[in-house]
Order: sequence, then C-alpha cells, then structure tokens
Amino acid sequence: MRSHYCGHITREHIDQTLTVAGWVHRRRDHGGVIFVDLRDREGLLQVVFDPDAPALFAQAERLRSEYVISVTGRVRARPAGTDNPNLPTGEVELYGSELTIHNRAETPPFMLDDDDVAEETRLRFRYVDLRRPVMQERLRLRHRVTSSLRRYLDGQGFIDLETPILTKPTPEGARDYVVPSRTHPGRFFALPQSPQIFKQLFMISGFDRYYQIARCFRDEDLRADRQPEFTQLDVETSFLDENGIMTLMEGMIRKTFAEVLGVELPDPFPRMPYAEAMQRFGSDKPDLRIPLELVEVADLVADCDFKVFAGPAADPAGRVAALRLPGGGEMTRKEIDEATAFVGRYGAKGLAYIKVNDTTAGRDGLQSPIVKFLSDAAVTGILERTGAADGDLVFFGADKARIVNDALGALRVRLGHDRGLVAEGWAPLWVVDFPMFEWDEKRNTWVFLHHPFTSPKADSVEALETSPGEIDSRAYDMVLNGTELGGGSVRIHRQDIQAAVFRLLGISDEDAREKFGFLLDALKSGCPPHGGIAFGLDRLVMLMCGAESIRDVIAFPKTQTASCPLTSAPSEVSAEQLREAGIRLRRQEPSQA
Ligand code: AMO
Ligand code: AMP
Repeated sequence: MRSHYCGHITREHIDQTLTVAGWVHRRRDHGGVIFVDLRDREGLLQVVFDPDAPALFAQAERLRSEYVISVTGRVRARPAGTDNPNLPTGEVELYGSELTIHNRAETPPFMLDDDDVAEETRLRFRYVDLRRPVMQERLRLRHRVTSSLRRYLDGQGFIDLETPILTKPTPEGARDYVVPSRTHPGRFFALPQSPQIFKQLFMISGFDRYYQIARCFRDEDLRADRQPEFTQLDVETSFLDENGIMTLMEGMIRKTFAEVLGVELPDPFPRMPYAEAMQRFGSDKPDLRIPLELVEVADLVADCDFKVFAGPAADPAGRVAALRLPGGGEMTRKEIDEATAFVGRYGAKGLAYIKVNDTTAGRDGLQSPIVKFLSDAAVTGILERTGAADGDLVFFGADKARIVNDALGALRVRLGHDRGLVAEGWAPLWVVDFPMFEWDEKRNTWVFLHHPFTSPKADSVEALETSPGEIDSRAYDMVLNGTELGGGSVRIHRQDIQAAVFRLLGISDEDAREKFGFLLDALKSGCPPHGGIAFGLDRLVMLMCGAESIRDVIAFPKTQTASCPLTSAPSEVSAEQLREAGIRLRRQEPSQA
C-alpha cells in the first residue's frame, strides 16, 4: 500500500513516483490548489492536488482532518520561496496523481497542534492524543531506552525471566490490589507490588543473573511520578556485593544515556551517605543541581528566649536548620507568606526568616520577626555559618527533624525552580548507608526503610538485636535530578537473620510463616549471597524526555484518582460475576455526619 514513509521524503526523491499513506493532518485550499499535510509516524509531507485533474481534485476536496488516505504522485521541489525549513521534508512536495480514501474520521475531539487540551480529555481520547508528534516521540524514546537497557543486560549475561502477576502480597509498603479467586471462594490473589521475592527465588535456583521489565501494582496516593500500575526494570544478581552491583548498574544508566541522548554522565556517580543527604538537603533524593543547602544552627539558639527554636534545639529528635537564599532579600512579604503556607503543607508551624540588608550595620541591618529573641552571638553565628551576604534571605525551620527536613527540603527545591537556580544538565547520585530501621512512634515499633529482605550491616543476630536503631542497611538508591530513579540492596541470605529482622519489625513467627514461609524455607535450601535493584522505568523515561509526569510517558495511564477515562475502568461487574467470586457488596452506607 505504501512505498515510503512521509517523513523520509527529501530532495533525493525528486522526480520519483511513489506512494505514501497516513492521516490528513491539515488541508488548506490556496488559489484553487489543495494542500494536504499528510502525517505518518515518521513525519509530515506536503501533498498537492491540482484542479487540472478534476476528478482527483473533487476527491481531495472531500478530505478532512484525520481521514486516512494513500496518495501516489511525483516528488518535486517546492517552488522557490515556499520551502519550510522547520520540516525535514520542507524542501519538497508530492504532486498527487492518485488518491485513495481508506477511511473517514469524525471531527477530532481536539486539534493535534493544540498544546492546551485538558488531561482528562487527552486520556479519554488517548488514541488521538498518541497521534501527536510529541507523544509519538516520547513512546519511541521509551522503546529506545528499553532496548538499550536490554542490550546492556544481555551483554552482561542477565537472563530475562517472568514472574507471576496473580500472587501473594509482596511487602513494598503500599496497599495491595486484590483479585478474588473463583475456585477458592473467600480467597484472594494480590497483584505484585514488585517481583522482589520471586527474583530472590531465581537466585536460590541458580540463575545467577536475572532481569525483567516488570509491571508492578501499588494502591497508594498518586503524584506526578507515581502510578498505581507502573513498570520497573528489575534486576537481581548473585555473588556480587553492593559495590559490584552499583558499578554494574551505573554502567548501564551511563550507556543508555550515551546511546539514547548522546549524554555522557559522570563516571563514577558520586555517592552520599543518607545522613549527609538529610543534613545538607533535608531529603534522601537531593537534587544536586540546586545550589542551596540546609545548615545546622541548633547549638547557636539552644539558650535563646525563643521557645520555637530552643525547644527543638534541646530535643534529640528535633532540628533547627537554616536555609540561605542568595539574593532572597528581594522577596516580598506576599512571597514570604506563600513560602510559609507552602512549608505548612509539610507540617511546619511557621517559617522564621532574616532579611540581610546590611551586614555592617549590626541588628539594624537585619529585617526579621525573630532577631529580637536572639543574642548577638547567635545572630553573628547564624550569619557566619550560613555565609549570608547583603541582599540574602535566611529561612529557618525548627521542629522534629522529620518535619524540618521535609519542609526545608521541599522549600529548597521550590525556591530553586521559582528563582531559576537549577543548573542545566544531569546530576546522578547514589545515596547509601541508610539506617536499617526507623522507630515508628505511633505504632511503637521498628519499621523498615527499604523492605524486610534487605541485609543489615551486621552479621549476627545478637549485633542486630542489641541496637537496631544504630545499624545501617546494605541498601542504595539511585537519584537523578531529585527523582528517586531506583532502589535496591544486598539481601539477607541467612534464615536466622531473616527471622530476626521479621521479629524486630513486629512480624510474629506465625505471621512470617503465613506470609513468607516459602521464602524462609527457600533460604534453608542453599541460598547464595545476592542482591539487586529496581529502576522506575517510567521515571527514567520521564526525565530523559523532559516530561513533567510519568503519565506522559505511559501509553495508557490512570488519572490522579486511579481511574481510566478511556475505558471507564474500574467498572461495576455483573451480579453473576460477583456470585461466582463469592462476593457480596456492602450497601453504600450514607456517610455519618
Ligand atoms: P522500590 O519500592 O524502591 O523498590 O521501587 C523501585 C523503583 O520503582 C519506582 N516506583 C514507582 N514508579 C512509579 N509509580 C510508583 N507507584 C512507583 N513506586 C516505585 C521508583 C523506585 O525507585 N523490590 C524493590 C527493589 C529491590 O530491592 O531490588 C522495590 O520495588 O523509581
Ligand atoms: P510567632 O512567635 O508564632 O509569631 O513566630 C515568629 C516567627 O517564627 C514567625 O516568622 C513564624 O513564621 C516563625 N515560626 C514559628 N514557628 C516556627 C517553626 N516551628 N519553625 C520555623 N519558624 C517558625
């Protein structure tokens, strides 16, 4: 039906007669001549229909946007002065001599050139949205990324293996999507939050190196970089320690960036301990392109009269930190109020600040709601430690460390973007030395930072149980431009340590048996030392093509409320299906006011 793609036609083809096929992108009538921009996946080609051929011309007059046609004709140079330098095919046009209309199209729900269409509409008519060149490019870039990753892993001896979708709950910390079993009424499968346990079983089975481009399902609150159904590049290997795994994996990311974008990433990637990332950036996924840092000031304000500062300064779980914004002195009262409201979303009770007008003028050179509470020594200390200069603004956070980190960490990123401080380029980073456990005050128990199969940096049960809060794990996260791209760890390969970790996490022996008994048994069957990582493929592609959300690099994503406007899923099922699944729906109770 076609001899060439539209987007491939250039001067080289002049005087050739050929056939192209595609969609009518636009039809323009100009002085008795009809121009059609014909679109296929490779691009646009201008096709001309001349009134000298009346039957053909009449047919061309019927063309509308998104009609599917094929055209045979002769390629010719465009008349002088009508070149379109913005188009790869802009020097030529096809002089149509035969036209077939394969299919008509209703008026499209939106124009493909319109960049301002509501996302809901784009998702409802995704098959039209995906025709837009930008979406075609993004999904094709995604393909280039996955094929580059596969080539690398194939070259390193990794084997692509599949794992079940109907399975048992996997502990990645989100809610499960559950699927009722018809053959076992009252029982449910869970969709995997990741292939974690199965990939460990592959190591126990001796495959040595596994990878999979795996779909994962997590019922959690959605954000721009979170979908209920997303894709991981999932990797596991035996007989390598964390250094071996990190080296292999950053080699993969470097190669993919070079192959797909022609970008050289640093070799090696920098590494930063978790504690340092939290201290300096208030985040375990710092965006190193933003040149703003948190500075500790608790010791300077410990004795001051300002309870807001003195309290957290004296609290071992508290933190008082400052964030200097160079040139921030020009921020208006309104902007500062907005920043205060912004940190409020992260639990901060306020946002104290000092505007530095003139460092030589002592207190008179400072504008601030709090300096009146601070001693001269404290003020001088703060200015010195933050490196504040005239025209700067210093923000403060004082609270539990977690709140200060969340609030100032997020403020740092927001100010960086709002004030154009984000450096160009790519800033990859490994975050390492995560604590193994965190104490959960509300539930009064230790909780894991990664997942319960991550190995502690302790090789005996006693060492682990003596001071769980001080032990680091052998986990690592890869961060790129402030996004957590991937996370992994060396795993526990000993049954006694695994059992001790479950105990510390408050998972009873009975529960552990019920949930992960098959893994505990497998650990006793001859388990090699092993470890791995999973990358968020959607996030990687989002960053590589400069998209704002992973929804823009997923062909058929869900909305923020985890539904699909295209298919209207989730939908009701028939009474028959419910009966077969052994499920009776509870009547929607009117909500208690
Ligand atoms: P983790 O839970 O850190 O680790 O997930 C790995 C990576 O997957 C991506 N990711 C997501 N992407 C989009 N939407 C989501 N809802 C979502 N959740 C996670 C992130 C994240 O870094 N089994 C372990 C890996 C291992 O230990 O090998 C795991 O799943 O980019
Ligand atoms: P107040 O004493 O509540 O008027 O607060 C004085 C200043 O301290 C105001 O600028 C508040 O925004 C700020 N502030 C209050 N609580 C905190 C806090 N926990 N961390 C940082 N600044 C705060």
